[in-house]
Amino acid sequence: MSLLKFSASKVHDFVSESHINSLKSKIESCNTLLHSGEGKGNDFLGWVDLPSSITPALIEEIKASAEVLRSKAEIVIVIGIGGSYLGAKSVLDALSNNFNLLVKDRKDPIVLFAGQNISEDYMHELVELIQDRDIATVVISKSGTTTEPAIAFRVIKDIIEKKYGKAEAATRIVAVTDGERGALRTLANGEGYKTFVIADNIGGRFSVLTPVGLLPLAVAGVDISEFVAGATEMEQQTGADVKFEDNIAAQYAATRFALYNSGKKIEILASYEPKLQYIAEWWKQLYGESEGKDGKGIFPASVNLTADLHSMGQYIQDGERTLFETVLHIEKPNNKFAIPANEDNLDGLNFLAGRSLTDVNHNAEAGTMLAHVDGGVPNISISLESINARSIGALLYFFEKACGICCYALDVNPFDQPGVEAYKKNMFALLGKPGFEAEGEELRKRL
Ligand code: PA5
Repeated sequence: MSLLKFSASKVHDFVSESHINSLKSKIESCNTLLHSGEGKGNDFLGWVDLPSSITPALIEEIKASAEVLRSKAEIVIVIGIGGSYLGAKSVLDALSNNFNLLVKDRKDPIVLFAGQNISEDYMHELVELIQDRDIATVVISKSGTTTEPAIAFRVIKDIIEKKYGKAEAATRIVAVTDGERGALRTLANGEGYKTFVIADNIGGRFSVLTPVGLLPLAVAGVDISEFVAGATEMEQQTGADVKFEDNIAAQYAATRFALYNSGKKIEILASYEPKLQYIAEWWKQLYGESEGKDGKGIFPASVNLTADLHSMGQYIQDGERTLFETVLHIEKPNNKFAIPANEDNLDGLNFLAGRSLTDVNHNAEAGTMLAHVDGGVPNISISLESINARSIGALLYFFEKACGICCYALDVNPFDQPGVEAYKKNMFALLGKPGFEAEGEELRKRL
């Protein structure tokens, strides 16, 4: 039995099942391209068979390194941005208590993130918070020169060294970076930090199953073996040898492609579980950076329901009809909670007394799906039996595989991101970086 179920039945009023099925050979050949390595960006296909090639020795090495940090630190600061941040953040949130930071008698260190913004207040408040705590850090940067994490690492490294001295500091800092090149690699080698390598053939947004994601997750106490096992299961179920009818990543890709060509240019990932909010953030990077180029691509957006039904719900129901929705359905909660009866029944909700919140949540979801379909928004459903390390591993690999297929169907290179350089050039010019003087002057005139 698959860890995920896929259904496009609430799409067929908009693009017919037979039309989606007619894309079968195109989609299958895109999947084959990912495996044969003959498509665009084929230097970056290391993620395709990554789950099944993760060795027990690597898992053990990651767990051992995580254990060192866990034994030394009450707070571990994970530094990174984009693909070097969102994977760990999304899985950690999904698998943690909603009120993680306030849980009493916690046995796992608190994992906090830095280097994903340049906010002075964020940094000030983080530094204030860690002043009197035992800390360690995992710094993640493939290039080693990305501005946001590099600034954060300067700060955190300084604090750790002042607090513990250089020798002990080196045992509290782990770097995840390129195997040979880059500023972080040079520094880590020089200082004697424990390091993990991000393979050359895996880009940031496809790196959650490398130490980029696995080390922070292990530090936080996530069962990374289960997480990898779920991804491996999905790798096998979406291989090039799996026929379209059995391959849910291929079906998702075909459905998206058909909807896009029918004028649905925006996909909203919707979830009714607050702890999945960052799964959507990770998904947005994956699809936005991979597909959005050459004037093409579906714009990935997300909503957290039912909260956003009281805000974005209006637009989804009634705004411009260029949307479709992909709903993450969770069959069973990990905990039970029933609605209490109330003597006065002023809110008129006693008809719900004794029923579970999941019952209400599922009915809200079903009602919303039908309303949105009636309003002209096709709905895709992706269903997980429950939220756990295995199912989340499967979900993330499923999205990666479908993303690669979708990009090839659109004939774009899934693995580059030429568009993200434009802001960096302007930022450096405005900041006065040596070598950018002329551009800086031109830009300032335009402000
Ligand atoms: O997906 C990507 O490639 C980007 O989001 C990068 O991961 C991000 O810019 C961080 O880069 P680096 O790991 O080199 O610091």
